Amino acid sequence: MTGAPGVEGKVVAVTGASSGIGEAIALLLAERGAKVVLGARRADKLADLAGRIEQAGGEAVVAETDVTKREDLVGLVAAGRERWGRFDVLVSNAGAGSVGPITDLDVDGWELMVDVNVKGLLYGVAAALPVFQEQGSGHFVTVLSVAGLQISPGTAVYAATKNAGRTFSEALRQEVGDSIRVTAVSPGMVATDFTQGTKNDEARAQMEESKDEIAIDPSAIARAVAFAIEQPADVDVNEIVVRPTAED
Ligand SMILES: NC(=O)c1ccc[n+]([C@@H]2O[C@H](COP(=O)([O-])OP(=O)(O)OC[C@H]3O[C@@H](n4cnc5c(N)ncnc54)[C@H](OP(=O)(O)O)[C@@H]3O)[C@@H](O)[C@H]2O)c1
Repeated sequence: MTGAPGVEGKVVAVTGASSGIGEAIALLLAERGAKVVLGARRADKLADLAGRIEQAGGEAVVAETDVTKREDLVGLVAAGRERWGRFDVLVSNAGAGSVGPITDLDVDGWELMVDVNVKGLLYGVAAALPVFQEQGSGHFVTVLSVAGLQISPGTAVYAATKNAGRTFSEALRQEVGDSIRVTAVSPGMVATDFTQGTKNDEARAQMEESKDEIAIDPSAIARAVAFAIEQPADVDVNEIVVRPTAED
């Protein structure tokens, strides 16, 4: 473990830390000296990750979290404060994605994306904002998507939920004043299991194919998150886009 200025000692909660991008963010931040609160539903995966972080000399606590439940986000923030007495960064990374034409009328999938990607983000902000205000410092980092920047058929609801997050984050930045930072990170195609959430067989096969061809490692997104966190307190990195060089 090598402590890094700006990251070392900060208490950082990561939602969706049980796999993919969230796991990579938690690992990298812990390696750089952050104390990490691991949030997701799969507690076994979180316990395994916490074990690996501690084995490497880092500090982690598990907080089983379903971001569609408001009280779980309150518990996530409380877990960091109870263990380390403060709470510095909320990384809202948990996400749901089901891609396919609107005519599929996958209303259950639409609801899930709204619940996880929009309401989950709002619940997290509602839980952390009073703490940040009381402390006089804090940082919201939200994982959005290139899908919201480059709209294409099949991604309507997923992109819409990610752009709800983008709009909200910009308003949040303007409203919270000069002691709280707000960062949105938009990844392109990343090598994770995220494609499994798509029910439409054709859309899923297409995504799997391009993932095999061009996807970048989740650690690329983790480095972008660390970059935003490690800046001096008066520097607010607001938007980062990280995608494969080979992506259209
Ligand atoms: N992979 C890509 O190409 C890509 C591109 C752009 C943006 N993104 C975004 O990156 C983020 C992470 O996705 P990933 O690619 O790392 O995929 P992933 O490996 O499938 O991770 C998704 C994570 O979200 C968590 N999650 C889902 N529903 C949840 C809920 N209700 N409560 C708490 N956690 C929940 C999952 O944990 P549990 O199942 O254990 O709860 C899992 O840890 C998402 O926001 C996604 O939209 C991904």
